[in-house]
Amino acid sequence: MRPSPIRELFPMTQRPGMISFAGGLPDPAIFPVEEFAQCGSALRDQGKTALQYGASEGFRPLIDELIKRMEPLLARPFRPEELVIGSGSQQVMDMLARVLIDPGDVVIVEAPTYPGALHTFRNSGACFAPVPCDEDGMLVDALPEVVQRCKRQTGRLPKLIYSIVNFSNPAGVCLSLPRRRRLAELALSHGIPVLEDDPYGELRYSGAAIPALFSLADSGIIFASSFSKILAPGVRVAWAIGDPSLIRKMVVAKQGMDLCTSMVTQVLVAEYCRRGFLETHLGRIRSHYAGKAEAMARAFRKYLPTGSIGGADPEGGFFFWRKLAHASSRVLFERAVEEGVAFLPGSAFFPAPDEVVGEGVDGDPFARFCFTFASPSEIEEGARRLARALAGHD
Ligand SMILES: Cc1ncc(COP(=O)(O)O)c(C=O)c1O
Repeated sequence: MRPSPIRELFPMTQRPGMISFAGGLPDPAIFPVEEFAQCGSALRDQGKTALQYGASEGFRPLIDELIKRMEPLLARPFRPEELVIGSGSQQVMDMLARVLIDPGDVVIVEAPTYPGALHTFRNSGACFAPVPCDEDGMLVDALPEVVQRCKRQTGRLPKLIYSIVNFSNPAGVCLSLPRRRRLAELALSHGIPVLEDDPYGELRYSGAAIPALFSLADSGIIFASSFSKILAPGVRVAWAIGDPSLIRKMVVAKQGMDLCTSMVTQVLVAEYCRRGFLETHLGRIRSHYAGKAEAMARAFRKYLPTGSIGGADPEGGFFFWRKLAHASSRVLFERAVEEGVAFLPGSAFFPAPDEVVGEGVDGDPFARFCFTFASPSEIEEGARRLARALAGHD
C-alpha cells in the first residue's frame, strides 16, 4: 500500500490562514444546500424503498434520469443494463480494475494523470505505461510504440487505457477531436478497452464542446462521470456506461465492496435531477468558476515574475497546470507553505519509477493550482504569496 501523495500533504495545506490551491475541490459557497434539502421531501414518498437495501446496479429512477442526461451527450440511446451507479468515480474505477486487472498487467495512462486512478489500479497489481501529453491531451500517435514495448517487456498487451478526455486532472487540457478519433481507432484495432473518465466535461467556460470518445466508437469504451464536481463530492454518487456484459461484472464486483451505493443519497440526487435543479446549478457554477479561472490567470500574470512559470490557461475544469522555469515544485511547495499558500507538486501526478514499463516522466518541474475552491480575493493574495516563495526560491 502506497499512501496517496496528495492526502499526505493535506495536513500542511490546512494550517490556519493558509490559502489553498491544493485540493481539487468545488466551492462550498455555491453548494445547492437549499435545493438539496427540498429534495428531502422525496424521501417521504419513496422512503420505504430508499431505506431498504437497494439494487447493486443502482436506484432505477436515478438510472433513468442519467439516461436522459447522457443520451444527447453521448449521441446514443441507452438501456438500463448499460449503466451502473457507483459510490464516486473512484469506486467505478475500482470496480473496473477488479474486473479487468490481474497482477502484473499494464495500464496505459496519460502523463500527468489523476493520482487516485494510479492508486486504484496499483491496488489491483497494475503497473503503468505513461504517455506524455501536450496542450491537445495524450500524444496518441505514441500509442502503437507503447503497446509494442509493453508486449516486449511483459509478454502481454496492456489491459486498459485510462484517459481524462476533458479538462484533465491535473493538466486542464482536452483531448483534441482528431486524437479522440485516432484513440478510438487504435484501441479497437489492438482490442484494448478505454476508460473515458469525464467528471469535468460539463464544466466548460469557453470554446466549443468536443464529442465524447464514447460517441466516436462502436465498442470498447467505458464512460464514467460523477456528481462530485458538478454537485458536491460528499454525495458520493457516480456512474459508468459500457457494454452490458462488462457492466454486469462490475455490478458483481461492487456487491463484494458495499452491496450498493447509499439509496438515501440516490433518491435525493434523482429528485434533484428530476426537478431540473442540476441544469440551473450547472449554469450557475460555470459562470462562478469562469470568474475564478480569470482571477487566477490575472493574478498570476500580475504577480509572478515573467518567465518563472509557463502554461496555457484552461477553458474549463478546476486546474491550472504550470511548468516552473527554474524551480523544483517540491522545494517550492515547502517555501510556499511557509508563505501561507499551498498547491500540489507535480510528482504526485506521475507513476513512480519502479512501477513504470518504459520511460517515466519527471514530475518535479510541474505544479497544479486549483482555482475553484479559493475566493477571488484569496486567489489574488495567494498569487502574491506564491511570488514571494518563487523569489526566495531563485
Ligand atoms: C479525473 C478524476 N476522476 C475521478 C475522481 C474521483 O471522483 P469521485 O469523487 O467521483 O470519486 C476525481 C476526483 O478528483 C478526478 O479528478
